[in-house]
Amino acid sequence: MRIINVCGARPNFMKIAPLMEAYRRHPSIQPLLVHTGQHYDARMSEQFFDELGIPRPDVNLGVGSGSPTWQTAEIMLRFEPIVAEHRPDIVLVVGDVNSTVACALVAVRMGVRVAHVEAGLRSFDRTMPEEINRLLTDAISDLLFVTEPSGLANLKREGVAPEKVHFVGNVMIDTLLRNLERARSRPILADLGLVPRRYAVLTLHRPANVDDPTTLGRLIEALGEIGRELPIIFPVHPRTRRNLEQFGLAGAGAERGLRLVEPLGYLDFLRLMAEARLVLTDSGGIQEETTILKVPCLTLRENTERPVTVDVGCNQLVGTDPARIEAAFRRVMAAPESTSRTPDLWDGHAADRIVDVLRKSV
Ligand code: UD1
Repeated sequence: MRIINVCGARPNFMKIAPLMEAYRRHPSIQPLLVHTGQHYDARMSEQFFDELGIPRPDVNLGVGSGSPTWQTAEIMLRFEPIVAEHRPDIVLVVGDVNSTVACALVAVRMGVRVAHVEAGLRSFDRTMPEEINRLLTDAISDLLFVTEPSGLANLKREGVAPEKVHFVGNVMIDTLLRNLERARSRPILADLGLVPRRYAVLTLHRPANVDDPTTLGRLIEALGEIGRELPIIFPVHPRTRRNLEQFGLAGAGAERGLRLVEPLGYLDFLRLMAEARLVLTDSGGIQEETTILKVPCLTLRENTERPVTVDVGCNQLVGTDPARIEAAFRRVMAAPESTSRTPDLWDGHAADRIVDVLRKSV
């Protein structure tokens, strides 16, 4: 059974890692790993392969950055001959980035079945590029692997045949549980001069938050005020770094309480989150990781495609209004330790469940 596995951007790597590991237990599976090259900086890509023990990609399409349309089209053009050469039984894609939808579309056009890991998530906000990627990928997938109950409900409502849908848990959490002990021995807190529970972590990279100077400026100002009370470590995504510089905001955060650092590796970032008093983010995956770590998460968005993280009591949607962010910060600081629950099947065995389904599917 030949499976082409696609990864392209940073959040894909921790999802593909446990699958590549699970395949090794099944000699009948011949996996091929294709990296589209959507992310290419060592800090955004290579270091995750090293830390998570992901095999080197068999193929790197080397696409790089460009407009969303150009990037998606270019990935498709470069992926087509790979599918033609290897004639896989399945193309497996993860998450919701441009690489996900581009490769799914190529596979379907060439009569190859598509498996989508992390299917069914919906923010119901079609201005988000990821929402379009999710809708399109799910519409053409043959096997849809779902992480949380909302995904099942969304796919049912959209009329996806139930036999295609499998509730398997969360591969990103497989990776977290596998690496937590290793992460705890990282010296990142000492390196940054931090004391457990006496700092916050911030990430920002959504176009809606960082591409507009007014929105980004307002966020930096509001978060900087919080940073005066509780140090905030802010590993800066390349998109955000570029915009901070372009909008003349790079110094603004630092003058207040934000400590800007380069993007961190998986283990350092995991340790940093695990020991934080709270996390502020517009990322999708971090809402899930903080849920397992039981670290309060304030999501700087008006919606989430991962509502289970709110339902279990760990995540709060606070949007980008400074007064709301500050009020939520006060609530978290006043509350005792988080008592959130763990979502069903986020138990470290999602990849095994996926591989079982894949094996039965041919
Ligand atoms: C992409 C995903 C987003 C995901 C995020 C995680 C889409 C639509 N978006 O957004 O869902 O949450 O990855 O990081 O697929 N850049 C570098 N080095 C790199 C990669 C990018 O400097 O290795 C810079 C480039 O200036 C590039 C910009 O970052 O133009 C944005 O990169 P891109 O892959 O287009 O989108 P992300 O914002 O990273």
